[in-house]
Amino acid sequence: MRIGMLTSGGDAPGLNAVIRGAVLTGTTVHTHEFVGFKDGWKGLVENDTLPLSRHEVKGISKQGGTILGTSRTNPFEGRGGVDRINEVMAENGLDALIAIGGEGTLAAAKRLTDAGVKIVGVPKTVDNDLDATDYTFGFDTAVGIATEAMDRLRTTGDAHNRCMVAEVMGRHVGWIALHSGMAAGAHAILIPEQKTTLDQVAEWVQSAYDRGRAPLVVVAEGFTLPEDDEPHSERGLDAFGRPRLGGIGERIAPLIEERTGIETRATTLGHIQRGGTPSAFDRVLATRLGMASISAVNEQHWGRMVALRGTEIVHVPFAEALGKLKTVPQSRYDEAALLFG
Ligand code: F6P
Repeated sequence: MRIGMLTSGGDAPGLNAVIRGAVLTGTTVHTHEFVGFKDGWKGLVENDTLPLSRHEVKGISKQGGTILGTSRTNPFEGRGGVDRINEVMAENGLDALIAIGGEGTLAAAKRLTDAGVKIVGVPKTVDNDLDATDYTFGFDTAVGIATEAMDRLRTTGDAHNRCMVAEVMGRHVGWIALHSGMAAGAHAILIPEQKTTLDQVAEWVQSAYDRGRAPLVVVAEGFTLPEDDEPHSERGLDAFGRPRLGGIGERIAPLIEERTGIETRATTLGHIQRGGTPSAFDRVLATRLGMASISAVNEQHWGRMVALRGTEIVHVPFAEALGKLKTVPQSRYDEAALLFG
């Protein structure tokens, strides 16, 4: 078979390991050939291809980013659409497509599959918020990077007796915040799923400080304070009605300082969490998902994605992964919160 492959949406450490796992399995265990599309769906719509043989994937598991490039292009916009995609696939003699991406990518892949395009998906997001898979690759790496940064923030916090606020990724869910915060021994973890008040945050910070610790507050970028706690909390505007600069970490730090009198500094980790070499766990998971995407193609499991369930890789329909986010359960948050303050 000739198989097209693309990576779409925000990158995640491990994308290259997926590509390598699929290409090596496809070319050495089977007799498939591959065509890469550049920059996600954009490359497919524009017929912008890259060679993808055993040679191109040599040694790439340890590289961050994606050798195919990525973008947030929607395949139905502009020149795109089912007819155009069928045309490009026919021009390249393709029998199937492997799309590696998050919620948006899988939603587009489902729409295309419903219209008859033969697609298998590989789930991807550092946020770990996709339902139907226990873990996504890239998450472990992001947690490792965030934890290392927090360990560093704690030593400088200790030296100055300051409260340190670390803002991590997580637009809709707090998985990175929960795991890195637990790993670093945070005194408070603030996540989008929980409406934590400023009084509660100040109490945790004060209690840690009173025990002689430099408080560490971990906040997910999607966390919001209750309306009453954040002055001028009109979405996206500052006190003067100007677009706000900085995220929740920078906004909450002065509020903590004001409430507690403890000098407070904020650090936003941002895209550092997505860059660089993937952890060994993510390389193994990504490689296994890439390999399994070939068995899904062989079995003609169109409209399915590969997923981790326990320790096994399974094939699940796109629909199972779409529409609902995998949020942090209350019990996991309560467990972590026992050690706050
Ligand atoms: O969804 C993954 C993610 O890293 C989010 O945590 C973050 O909010 C977003 O992507 C950043 O997107 P971009 O790279 O487009 O700025």
